[in-house]
Amino acid sequence: MVDVRSAASAPKQEIRLEDYEAPAFTIESINLIFRLHDDYAEVEARSLFRMKKGAGSELRLDGGPYMDLLALEIDGSPVPDDQFVKSAEVLQLRSVPEKFELGVVTRLRPRENTRLEGLYFSGGNFCTQCEAEGFRHITYFPDRPDVLTRYHVRIEADTKSCPVLLSNGNPGQKGDLGDGRHFAEWNDPHPKPSYLFALVAGNLACQNDSYTTASGRQVDLNIYVSEQDLDKCDYAMQSLKRSMAWDEEVFGLEYDLDVYNIVAVSDFNMGAMENKGLNIFNTKYVLASPETATDADFDHVEGVIGHEYFHNWTGNRVTCRDWFQLSLKEGLTVFRDQEFSSDMTSRAVKRLDDVRVLRMLQFPEDAGPLAHPVRPEKYIEINNFYTTTVYNKGAEVIRMMHSIIGPEAFRKGMDLYFERHDGQAATCEDFAAAMEDASGADLKQFRLWYSQAGTPKVTARRSHEGRDLIITLEQSCAPSPGQGVKLPYHMPIRLGLVGPNGGEVTADLEGDGKWEDGSCIVNLRETHQSFRFKNVPEGTVPSILRGFSAPVVLDHDLSDDELAFLAVQDSDPFVRWESTQDLYSRYLVKQVSEDGEGHPPELLLQVFTGHLADKATDPALVAELLTLPGEIALGQKMESLAPERIHTARETLAKAFADASSENIIDLYQSLKAAQGYSHEQGAKANRRLRNVLLNYIALMPDGEETTQRRYAEADNMTDCMAALSLISHSNFDCRDKVLQEFYDKWRQNDLVIDKWFAVQAQSKRSDTVSKVRELTQHEAFTFKNPNRLRSLISTFSMLNQVRFHEKNGEGYRFLAEMIVRVDELNPQTAARLVAPLGRWGRVDEPRKGFMKDALMSVLKVSNLSDDVRELVEKSLA
Ligand code: TRP
Ligand code: ZN
Repeated sequence: MVDVRSAASAPKQEIRLEDYEAPAFTIESINLIFRLHDDYAEVEARSLFRMKKGAGSELRLDGGPYMDLLALEIDGSPVPDDQFVKSAEVLQLRSVPEKFELGVVTRLRPRENTRLEGLYFSGGNFCTQCEAEGFRHITYFPDRPDVLTRYHVRIEADTKSCPVLLSNGNPGQKGDLGDGRHFAEWNDPHPKPSYLFALVAGNLACQNDSYTTASGRQVDLNIYVSEQDLDKCDYAMQSLKRSMAWDEEVFGLEYDLDVYNIVAVSDFNMGAMENKGLNIFNTKYVLASPETATDADFDHVEGVIGHEYFHNWTGNRVTCRDWFQLSLKEGLTVFRDQEFSSDMTSRAVKRLDDVRVLRMLQFPEDAGPLAHPVRPEKYIEINNFYTTTVYNKGAEVIRMMHSIIGPEAFRKGMDLYFERHDGQAATCEDFAAAMEDASGADLKQFRLWYSQAGTPKVTARRSHEGRDLIITLEQSCAPSPGQGVKLPYHMPIRLGLVGPNGGEVTADLEGDGKWEDGSCIVNLRETHQSFRFKNVPEGTVPSILRGFSAPVVLDHDLSDDELAFLAVQDSDPFVRWESTQDLYSRYLVKQVSEDGEGHPPELLLQVFTGHLADKATDPALVAELLTLPGEIALGQKMESLAPERIHTARETLAKAFADASSENIIDLYQSLKAAQGYSHEQGAKANRRLRNVLLNYIALMPDGEETTQRRYAEADNMTDCMAALSLISHSNFDCRDKVLQEFYDKWRQNDLVIDKWFAVQAQSKRSDTVSKVRELTQHEAFTFKNPNRLRSLISTFSMLNQVRFHEKNGEGYRFLAEMIVRVDELNPQTAARLVAPLGRWGRVDEPRKGFMKDALMSVLKVSNLSDDVRELVEKSLA
């Protein structure tokens, strides 16, 4: 055997979509035996390989540098040393037969694995994370999504410390091995790629339930958590059953195994993982009780449970050919979980939440140095491409197809997609083709959404000819890395006409589009395209981009009065909200650029008080209508970021609203007091949302401290508690330090609640925040090993606290750079996810620009930097 260790330190090569080659071997089945011990694990893998016609006799297997190869056999005989070459990442076998059984035995050290990929330890239990390329750290294997095979797994472990032994598929035999050890076997009848493999072994408590599918299959449902969390699984279980029913009803898709297992672990790089029949979840997206979780947390549990469940069809039954196609499963599955949550909660409010996330996270990514298409063309480290572009913009791309071809054709397209590709590894192109064939629509130009990066800008201008209203739309898209010139997109723009008395106007359209439920969906395909609406009453106001029908930045020519009109009158909740936000933003942006002071115009106050008095609208939506645009959203509307001025202008307007409407605000606040204690019904959630928005204004009034403190003390649920605590954390109230300390003492045993405690301090707008955050990294409860804890302090600070992260002395940037380096030593994937905020230097002036680049450079100087971090830091400097 030739050991080429030096290769370990060579930086990874770029992988390109255009170089894709189908695998040379198929694998009929794999038999895995895991022998788990306290301080090591031995893995025996026996796979039946078959050479494809015309393929060479060289077999290339992926591997990793953290495992030992103990044995390598072909058909039961050791492979001679001169017949294979092993480097840190590849194992090459020469002249293998056409059909053979490959035996590989490896030894792993799960306790030392802080990278949290492959086999690792969390909370005293063994667990795995194989997406995207973790399986290669368990055994040598073609670790790519287009190699599918049947898995048989046997786990052997200590009976006492590992009573629970789980893997994918249906349970098989189990029994005692003597010597205090036992075993369990699992068979997964569905061929799958290695990234969907999973194993869990440990001491876990279980909540059990069952579900009967539409065709009568009884499915055993289990949620495994640590003993003390068993009382927080109800909502996840209910959400799972609702997901199963929803997918049957909406897409005609049923579950296909006898068991569905979910395990919650506290050390996890992402939200959750859709491993076939054995989902592994971050505890954050399983555990929820009213005392410990906010309403938003409950919604996230439901959304992520749904997301992973929906992957069973969109991801597992039909998987990805290669990782460039990641959005095939992720964009589609996010779209599906968004639709599920819309049906379970409020469609209007869910859409606002999704658009807000898209703008706050994806738009900046698309406008910065890390911009990439929904289907990227090259990468160095695939883990860096689990991005908001692939997930959230990917979901918008699916949503646009849904709008263009309509819901019925979309459902037909889904059916056709499964008919054609069930059991296969497919591409984004396959999906688009199914939608095209099912609908008859031509989506050729539409496919540019997959290949072009950047957020398009759409300008809408009006003109009148007699009684005809002509809306002219113009589109453009700025250059992005590697893409200088963009071709025009095909985008569905949903618009409506609101008549002078507030009613919907339906006018004949000359141009490419059709009316549907009071709105007109026009197809914008040209750079410059006009749509003529015939015979429109005078005083009609166009309502453009209803439901945010395309992920674009819209520039329109509506006056302040017209915005105020739409804010109240439009039947489309998104445009009501957007018009309100536009109105507030216009004023605030002007205040910032002119460093203005003084009173806001009467029109703004009128709109605000109008929303305050609105009894006909869902209180959750009213809450959004009363919320000022966030500092990050305001920053995006400016050429160059002025963080302090944005912060001050926004605070000043909030104070002006609080002063002008104090009585109405307090009255409404009082009237929303829950009649009979806590409830999780939609209505009660909506009331809490509105009441807590009002509390923001009340905190600015003369009795603000007292009211906020009372709210904190009287809260009987985490939603209200956090609403008050977050205000206290921002404030100079006398009670501040005492309240924070009390909260810590009360919850020190609950990791997820302590994460909130870190986050609320990281979000504080107080001027001492950078140094406080730095201090908190020394706190007894802080650890660099747990991704949730890192994110709650470091990502919250750097991604959500614009004014303090962009502190003029550069302290925020230097802090983040230090953290990236510290985390990279333990967990490169999570370290890389911290980099993006430092890449936004194009948006700021000196001296900030220089400080940001210096911070990036300081990371690059570190020796032994991971490929994950290096790729993103280098791109961020380009
Ligand atoms: N497929 C998972 C999801 O979106 C994502 C995921 C979980 C993941 N763990 C990961 C991606 C680790 C990369 C690395 O549902
Ligand atoms: Zn997913």
